[in-house]
Amino acid sequence: MKSSRKIAIVARTKTVSTRSFNMSSKRQILVTNALPYANAALHLGHVLEYTQTDVWVRFQRMRGHECYYLSADDAHGTAIMLKADEKGITPEEHIAAMRAIHEADFRDFYISVDNYHSTHSDENRELSELIYNRLNTNGHIAKREITQAFDPEKNLFLADRYIKGTCPKCKTDDQYGDNCEACGATYSPTDLINPVSVISGATPIEKASTHYFFKLPEFTQFLKEWTRSGAVQDEVANKLGEWLDSGLQEWDISRDAPYFGFEIPNAPGKYFYVWLDAPIGYMASFKNFCDRENIDFDHFWKKDSPTELYHFIGKDIVNFHALFWPAMLTSAEFRTPTKICVHGFVTVNGKKMSKSRGTFINARCYLDHLNPEYLRYYYASKLSGSVEDIDLNLEDFQQKVNSDLVGKVVNIASRCAKFIANGNDGVLSSTIENPELWAQVSGAADKIAEHYENRDYSKAIREIMAQADAANEYIASKEPWKLNKDESKKQEVQDICSLGINLFRVILTYLKPVLPAMTEAGEAFLNDSLNWNSVQQPLTNHKINPFVPLMQRIEKEKVDAMIEASKEEAASATLRTGPLVDDPIAAEISFDDFIKVDLRVALIVKANHVEGAEKLLQLTLDIGGETRNVFSGIKSSYKPEDLEGRLTVLVANLAPRKMRFGMSEGMVLAAADSNGIYLLEPDSGAQPGQRIS
Ligand code: MSP
Ligand code: ZN
Repeated sequence: MKSSRKIAIVARTKTVSTRSFNMSSKRQILVTNALPYANAALHLGHVLEYTQTDVWVRFQRMRGHECYYLSADDAHGTAIMLKADEKGITPEEHIAAMRAIHEADFRDFYISVDNYHSTHSDENRELSELIYNRLNTNGHIAKREITQAFDPEKNLFLADRYIKGTCPKCKTDDQYGDNCEACGATYSPTDLINPVSVISGATPIEKASTHYFFKLPEFTQFLKEWTRSGAVQDEVANKLGEWLDSGLQEWDISRDAPYFGFEIPNAPGKYFYVWLDAPIGYMASFKNFCDRENIDFDHFWKKDSPTELYHFIGKDIVNFHALFWPAMLTSAEFRTPTKICVHGFVTVNGKKMSKSRGTFINARCYLDHLNPEYLRYYYASKLSGSVEDIDLNLEDFQQKVNSDLVGKVVNIASRCAKFIANGNDGVLSSTIENPELWAQVSGAADKIAEHYENRDYSKAIREIMAQADAANEYIASKEPWKLNKDESKKQEVQDICSLGINLFRVILTYLKPVLPAMTEAGEAFLNDSLNWNSVQQPLTNHKINPFVPLMQRIEKEKVDAMIEASKEEAASATLRTGPLVDDPIAAEISFDDFIKVDLRVALIVKANHVEGAEKLLQLTLDIGGETRNVFSGIKSSYKPEDLEGRLTVLVANLAPRKMRFGMSEGMVLAAADSNGIYLLEPDSGAQPGQRIS
């Protein structure tokens, strides 16, 4: 009996995907991105995912489908609880502040979510309880005692990444509780030599407690079929196939108090593990939206819903979305996702994003320096439907955006507009000068649509740029600027440039999902609104508005400034980590190592603001007969005038570092927490230049 239901689900998924290209019927589509954790700012990796999702959603809406894009903050879990602790605020205060920051980043990257919610919400609590109760009623919850590492000082159970110690195999210090970064060994935290809790520094003890489990193995057969039904990319299905063949484990869905999350019904002191209620957050965000907009929630989530559901996620969270989530939904008698769309990771200049290289770039830092549409375009030009990583090569980024968008697309309009404005008072001709070319460019719509539909944006962009090349070649070969000198060729000039403007209009329409703001400016210029389904009809006898440049070139200085600012941010972020919270005492060094560091008493002779730097002050230091110029990230806590005349401590033999603002010759010492920065100062009487040891 059960297996017939499973087959029904697989069959339904298939029906939906073949329906995708039937343009006559209006599709009803829900789309989500992975909910960002409320413990950190968004970075350019997140922006890749949210751009990929947003382009797809905008494309579907342009095609006239009913498409809703839902997101939220993922607000639960130990990390968020500890972060709030560290800042001395409640988790609720912390997540409210993070949510505002995330929403602003979404808005400023033009991510067009219909609703941004939180997993710490009434809707999510109700839905999580409902789903859990159904799993329980259907016999899919197990309960048993397990033993785990426990921090006796903080009184909490420790996940593997909250324990560090010496690798039992290669004896490298400072390794996490599950694997060694030095030799790659995997082990359990109890195998570590001298384990410590990274939260308190205490030695963990073993402690038993009752946990709740979701009986995932019972869904093995269903998942084998579902993962091969077209619901995930083939490469992802293959990986999942390996896991399915090696046997699934029951999934531990409970955590003991103290925990920031929802308490499990009828299990006092036990909380849902953050990953249980996180995907339910997709439903909760939609529920919140439905209640406000009067939309039928059940129609989209009921077991045999005719609607479509797409989750866009990164490759690191596939197991949660393609195993646990569809199994939970099935047990709880809801519909399963139509497709899980998995993308790879962003690297910068060919390497993992790195704080010290300044390539761990926060979304806000990017926005402070560059136009979001540059990045949207660059990501789109590199995204395919595959799980491969995406490299943001900063030189290529600059080159591609400048040559494609400014050099090709905007150029078409800027070359033609002035002739139309001057020659015919801004009114386009009544004829199409070259019908074959018009047919070619406007006829590319279906092929481009198919690429967008398949998330093969790089192919869509390549095709669009080929059409832009054709338009530019046409204009170059006709040389309207020469013809215009001949009084008898004036109509010909109007006809050529009118076609140029019409080709520009089609190309801009194709780019609309990627470049919403540039398109909006283009629509004002064209005096028209651009829709996928109306591009086949050219504009004739139509008045356009004066041309304004639609996009500026990327300047290299701006990219460099962004990297410098990222380095600064990373440096002050390390300053801000509190004692032992994720910041245990570093590996032991010898006395010989220590005396290599030359620390000197320094007199702050002058302190100045640095133009364009958010965090830095420039200090002129006297170290007894020698003057040093040092940039220090202490601006948030000190006024320059209050520093002048003070003594402090300088690392005098640190290699000079070239910064955007000049050379920094050494480093002054300070502690910091979320309340401020505390500059070191010797007792009065110390003399500039004296050695500290
Ligand atoms: N909170 C979970 C998701 C819960 S979904 C019910 C989470 N949050 S996250 O903030 O760590 O990541 C959010 C998304 O960003 C994930 O899909 C993740 O794969 C993606 N990325 C995080 N770093 C990334 C890159 N460097 N590159 C591309 N995407 C990356 O996971
Ligand atoms: Zn090791």
